Amino acid sequence: MTQDEMKRLVGAAAAAYVNQNMPEGITLGVGTGSTANFFIDAIAKHKNRYRGAVSSSDASTARLLHYGIDVFDLNQIDDLPVYVDGADEINELGHMLKGGGGALTREKILASVAKEFVCVVDASKCVSVLGFFPLPVEVIPMARTSVAHALRTLGGMPKIRVRPDGDIYMSDNGCIILDVHRLKIIDPEAFEVAVNQIPGVVTVGLFAHRGADICLMGSVSGVKKIDYRGEMT
Ligand code: 5RP
Repeated sequence: MTQDEMKRLVGAAAAAYVNQNMPEGITLGVGTGSTANFFIDAIAKHKNRYRGAVSSSDASTARLLHYGIDVFDLNQIDDLPVYVDGADEINELGHMLKGGGGALTREKILASVAKEFVCVVDASKCVSVLGFFPLPVEVIPMARTSVAHALRTLGGMPKIRVRPDGDIYMSDNGCIILDVHRLKIIDPEAFEVAVNQIPGVVTVGLFAHRGADICLMGSVSGVKKIDYRGEMT
């Protein structure tokens, strides 16, 4: 099975999980990336069960609208029972490294509001120590140099994200992203706090204080559900 096939499998499993466990009429929180896209594709077949969605990126919004799913501003909703999103890395406690798709700030906002965070990954994303994947940090453009300096002091090697055409990548929020290489994040909660304290940082792509509640992990042998609040099935 290819990585894409595993992502499709967990996307479908997440749609089945949400259909089984969430009441009709709720607004769904929807993440960003190729795995989240498979979730959107799968949930679109059940769109009439839901009021609509709140989205973590312009790209996901476009995909939801393409399927005729209403997209609401977060300020318009009272309640977000579930948020489904991928991750670049996840450890055994459900701490995640996210933001490979550049949507980390809106993803963190939705994760903070959601009652339940369902992380959807293929098995290659499961790690014992976070940081092999470069850590995305969204930064106010004028603070690029000072934040990069501070990140080097914390032991990393920041590189500004560029688009395939060579231009500087700009997030949906008009900010730049520094991808921090060569990290071994032994204490994700402490590191999240340390990076958050650097002036000019908008969001760090470490989701440790608000990690996943559930992970649906796709592998060659199927989808495993890991519940960080308790049982494993
Ligand atoms: C986007 C993200 C994604 O969830 C993360 O990059 C995983 O993406 P994919 O499902 O394409 O592997 O955090 O900002």
